[in-house]
Amino acid sequence: MSNLPSGNRDSFSSKFGVIAAAAGSAVGLGNIWKFPYIAGVYGGAAFLFVYLAFILAIGLPVMLSELVIGRSSQRNAFGAFKVLAPGTPWRYVGILGVAAAFLILSFYGVVAGWSLQYISLSIQDGFHSKSPDEITSLFNTLIESPIRPVILQLIFMVLSAGIVIIGIKKGIEKYTKILMPLLVVILIFLCIKSVTLDGAKAGLEFLFKPDFSKLSADGILSALGHAFFTLSLGMGTLITYGSYIKKDNNLVNTVINVTVADTVIAILAGVAIFPAVFAFGIAPSEGPGLIFITLPNVFHQMPGGYIFSILFFILLSVAALTSSISILEVVVAYFKEEFNLGRKASTILATILISILGVLCSLSMGVLSPYEFFGLNIFDLMDWISANLLLPIGGMFIALFVGWYFGRKKVQAEVAQGGTMSGAFLSIFMFLVKFIAPIAIAIVMLNKIGLLTF
Ligand code: PHE
Repeated sequence: MSNLPSGNRDSFSSKFGVIAAAAGSAVGLGNIWKFPYIAGVYGGAAFLFVYLAFILAIGLPVMLSELVIGRSSQRNAFGAFKVLAPGTPWRYVGILGVAAAFLILSFYGVVAGWSLQYISLSIQDGFHSKSPDEITSLFNTLIESPIRPVILQLIFMVLSAGIVIIGIKKGIEKYTKILMPLLVVILIFLCIKSVTLDGAKAGLEFLFKPDFSKLSADGILSALGHAFFTLSLGMGTLITYGSYIKKDNNLVNTVINVTVADTVIAILAGVAIFPAVFAFGIAPSEGPGLIFITLPNVFHQMPGGYIFSILFFILLSVAALTSSISILEVVVAYFKEEFNLGRKASTILATILISILGVLCSLSMGVLSPYEFFGLNIFDLMDWISANLLLPIGGMFIALFVGWYFGRKKVQAEVAQGGTMSGAFLSIFMFLVKFIAPIAIAIVMLNKIGLLTF
């Protein structure tokens, strides 16, 4: 219910818990599965540099904006705008966010299901003595099958729902704190192995030596969409999490820590993948299967690869889980506070609805693959609409809201509660949210639909 006094709300109990939960949301399949796959499709280094520019100029300010909106309103993504801008249409930005959460989780759960499958394949030593081609067909057979991936996806959704039902302190915070550092360690080992393979150099060049002439309007839009996706921005995840953050938390610190952690992990994933892609003769533009096809080849060439592969896919699944709960939480907090449902009922309802769409996404890899919309199957369509359309549009409105409606004074007051922000920093921030972020997003979108070309 939207009038609950803020004292009744759950909140994160420690500063580290806040960073861990927000970083847990940010770091996920987006970094390890999606970043290498789309960087590969859109040509590598040029894509990486545009994506980094978007993270800095748009991601950072939008993230701070979301936390400010959430903490000052103490509400879900929709309720926040109702409280801060009563009687205005701003609340529809929140609805857009809830819709995005819905679409994202539908295909996210599918990929997380693949990751669960790869835990069991790793345990059975299923990649051993297989050629790169055999590993590729193993992946394709798995995702095209009508039953197994659906079951695994549903298992993943039930796990996510279970954690969300337990609630913020006992659920979200506890599970995100411990396992992320371990993931970084495994990634570093993978990077070392990958860059020492024969032929690794071509992969590093692909990732770091930009050729901007290769960049298309689609590539630029995807880099923008991915900047939002990977930082969990544009749909109110961090509004919702911000509403659970105590007033003494330093929001600027949280934003910087989360962004750095997320970016470093994506780059590590790139360094682990691309040298191996070239070394094993896999196409960098292989698509959504890229990591599932590349990494097993690396594992079975490295000492201790058996253990590494099990650990890696367990941690990938955990990283997916700490993100999926933050996506689900957007829908749950909305149902709970706006329709006055209990946490459990909201979670069950949201999980069932999202899973139905999720099953269609999974089947669109196989039996439903003939059904295409704008040349995309259902899985790709959900990904495209949410990441390239809903998140940037949501982010644009969030920036405009903080820049023009909420305003400098209130931003300063909210940030100052648990930290400081110098006048100069605040001015830069306001300039970014008032002008740079919204204009850049508008230009990228117009460029994509061909209304503006360079
Ligand atoms: N940031 C998450 C990832 O990279 C995905 C996500 C998107 C989470 C949007 C929340 C909101 O995997």
